[in-house]
Amino acid sequence: MHHFLKETDFTPEQAQHVFLLAKQFKDDRLNCPQTLKKQSWGLLFYKSSTRTRISFEVGVNELGGFPIVLDSQNTQIGRGETIADTAKVMSQYLHGLVIRTYGHEIVEGFAKHATMPIVNGLTDLNHPCQLYTDIFTLLERYSPEAMDINTLKGKKVVFLGDCASNMANSWIHSAAMFGMEITLAGPEGFAPTHEIDAVLEADGLAKQYVFTTDTKSAAEDADVLCTDVWVSMGDEAEAAKRKAAMTPYQVDGDLLALAKSDAYFLHCLPAHAGEEVSQEVLDSPQSIIFDEAENRLHAQKAIMAKLVELNS
Ligand code: CP
Ligand code: NVA
Repeated sequence: MHHFLKETDFTPEQAQHVFLLAKQFKDDRLNCPQTLKKQSWGLLFYKSSTRTRISFEVGVNELGGFPIVLDSQNTQIGRGETIADTAKVMSQYLHGLVIRTYGHEIVEGFAKHATMPIVNGLTDLNHPCQLYTDIFTLLERYSPEAMDINTLKGKKVVFLGDCASNMANSWIHSAAMFGMEITLAGPEGFAPTHEIDAVLEADGLAKQYVFTTDTKSAAEDADVLCTDVWVSMGDEAEAAKRKAAMTPYQVDGDLLALAKSDAYFLHCLPAHAGEEVSQEVLDSPQSIIFDEAENRLHAQKAIMAKLVELNS
């Protein structure tokens, strides 16, 4: 069974096809193939969501399928039913399952026991659906017709703030997969961890990212600036400590001015204006955050369609 738990669960060739499919779906949104006809897909949330929940629910519907939104607390998962039993039972009803949860081992556990494709809708480790969307959003600028992934090669991505977060990990992984340069700038204590190094090593990808505490040198000549919240879901107890440490790492107009004049600003949202990013940057013409949010729908429809193809 082919699942999508991390960026490299599709080869670069398969990813290229996903981006072309996503463009086709975006170009003619309501005339997409009914790939999920007569299928029911579960969307299981252990954490809050706006974009992931709505874009998957709408996306399953547009592909001709029936989406069922579930949450861990209102299923027997919340009362201790095992992942193995839940995955086996859900597989008897559903044709696919999107999961947003805490530990990455939970999506891996579902994948091990399910007989339907599992899609990772964010874990503490990574957020691959978001990164396929972010790459698609960049390709719309770099290669609007062919969506050619080779146009990503050598582009400099700079991630600021919590460099040990799921979004930072997914940027590191995607940069390695698509040949982008990546520099991460954040405070000591929030550097990339061995977890992402182990992921790269397991995939045979070189550990080529640069970590620095200096925002200015990082931002120079950037093609893409991106950041994420300083307090991710699950990190609330450390909120004060995190905000204090990361205050110097806000993406503001001065920092954006150090990047290339045609650099783009990305943020997966939700954003906290005045914390990780200034309102000025969120509103600037270089910010493509709302294209990015819209593209969750098109990219995820393509991910689901590709999984159906690979599993048929
Ligand atoms: N970017 C993202 O995953 O948004 P949600 O938390 O709203 O799903
Ligand atoms: N890093 C954030 C991303 C939210 C989409 C979190 O995990 O809360």
